[in-house]
Amino acid sequence: MIKPVIKWSGSKRSQSAKIKSFFPNTYGTYYEPFLGGGAMLYAITPEKSVCGDICKPLIDLWIEIRNNPEKLADSYRHRWNRLQKEGYTAYYSIRDEFNKNRSPYDLLFLSRTCVNGLIRFNDKGEFNNSLHYSRPGIKPDTLQEIIIDWSNHVQNTEFMATDYFTTTSTAKKGDVVYLDPPYFHTKGRYFGAIDYNRFLEYLEDLNSRGVKYLLSFDGVRGNEDFTVEIPSNLYKRHKLLPSGTSTFKKVIDKQTEEVFESLYLNY
Ligand SMILES: C[S@@+](CC[C@H](N)C(=O)[O-])C[C@H]1O[C@@H](n2cnc3c(N)ncnc32)[C@H](O)[C@@H]1O
Repeated sequence: MIKPVIKWSGSKRSQSAKIKSFFPNTYGTYYEPFLGGGAMLYAITPEKSVCGDICKPLIDLWIEIRNNPEKLADSYRHRWNRLQKEGYTAYYSIRDEFNKNRSPYDLLFLSRTCVNGLIRFNDKGEFNNSLHYSRPGIKPDTLQEIIIDWSNHVQNTEFMATDYFTTTSTAKKGDVVYLDPPYFHTKGRYFGAIDYNRFLEYLEDLNSRGVKYLLSFDGVRGNEDFTVEIPSNLYKRHKLLPSGTSTFKKVIDKQTEEVFESLYLNY
């Protein structure tokens, strides 16, 4: 499986190869407006792409991965050495610094040393996950290789810290958009819940512009079921992909239940 450069909850890493098999053979520009950790972007590595996310510190980090991979790897090495020497105070001082200045360099370090590598922000947009005491964090040499590999994959990508509407506003007939939105209508830790009706209008708009889309949609995340329907006039095909990633809904009457995720395609 792909080694992530940015660990992001809801990553499509385990499904990216399967989803890729449904991509059209040829297309113009690739768009990914809910980028997160970019698993599909890596799997596809398109010739030309525009990718965005509403989370600005995340996009700033992507830009550094593309533009300054060596500097980013060095900055991790520096912070990681500090952590080994100074212990937890280094982590919390870097976290305070990040919450003031939003440096992508600090964010990368925090994401690789925090509990379960989970990037998590509170309502004020402050990073609030704690240090993972029992683990030293990925070794700088190992992370450097991963950063450089990803950097090579994203050289032709334009990154935007924008709402999904804006990221794909230039998409035209022949282009393809991969969509992996967060929960609809729910509040909570997940960054930026989105409005369901607005999203349906958006799909309609992509259809009317002749833009192809693939939409991942599981409806089940965390331990709640958020299943909502995508109206059948908005897509042409609906696939159910086996998903090994959900850690809940597993045991019912001591039988393991397989979990599926939806993939909707408008072509
Ligand atoms: C399920 S995650 C995407 C995960 C990604 N496919 C991966 O493999 O890591 C959804 C992403 O949508 C972003 N997001 C939430 N609301 C958004 C909005 N209105 N516009 C653009 N991005 C948004 C979140 O910050 C989050 O990164």
